Amino acid sequence: MKTIISPSILSADFANLERDIKAIHSADWVHVDVMDGHFVPNISIGIPVVKSIRKVTEMFLDVHLMIENPDKYVNRFIDAGADLVTFHYEATEDVEFVINLIRQKGAKVGISIKPKTSPEVLYPYLDKVDMVLVMTVEPGFGGQSFMRDCAEKIPALRQNAPESLIIQVDGGINAQTAKICRDLGANSLVAGSYIYGSEDIDKAIASLR
Ligand code: DX5
Ligand code: ZN
Repeated sequence: MKTIISPSILSADFANLERDIKAIHSADWVHVDVMDGHFVPNISIGIPVVKSIRKVTEMFLDVHLMIENPDKYVNRFIDAGADLVTFHYEATEDVEFVINLIRQKGAKVGISIKPKTSPEVLYPYLDKVDMVLVMTVEPGFGGQSFMRDCAEKIPALRQNAPESLIIQVDGGINAQTAKICRDLGANSLVAGSYIYGSEDIDKAIASLR
């Protein structure tokens, strides 16, 4: 199974975003963390930034929405250039509605769960989405430690999902924790501080595969 590496630009230098996106050319996707200060206790970047990123790269834009009321914003993120939009199960009352909005607008669909959310809640949606994102830290900040018990949700999701489902892990990923996640059945890994904090970015990306 090929592993899709999606470096998180949350750990990039926002004043040099073009340079820092070019620096991860050997990865597969670009992971864009959107935070609203409500769903998570931090604020990051939004629609205009996605639009600007779209102009400087042809890489696949993997947009992770950590926001309340995702239904109000998904269309605008897709217009701005998102290829895949992941929203949080905990952020909406109507999961199916948000899935359909993203799908109808022509982007790929991801759904994510926070550390305390059980994987079973996602079973009804596994054949309706392209990706499940398992958070292995509390969303909101880069540089936190990997929570192994969260990664233990992966096998159950894998067992109940169609073969084509991408299972992505986000939070505290480095060469060691990447191996744990791959062995448990993940095939996409997000990493921010590990990749951008390394001396040799290409080598760090390769070490996650
Ligand atoms: C956390 C974000 C992550 C974050 C990961 O809320 O969703 O994508 O950038 O950072 P690291 O890899 O440093 O844990
Ligand atoms: Zn993320």
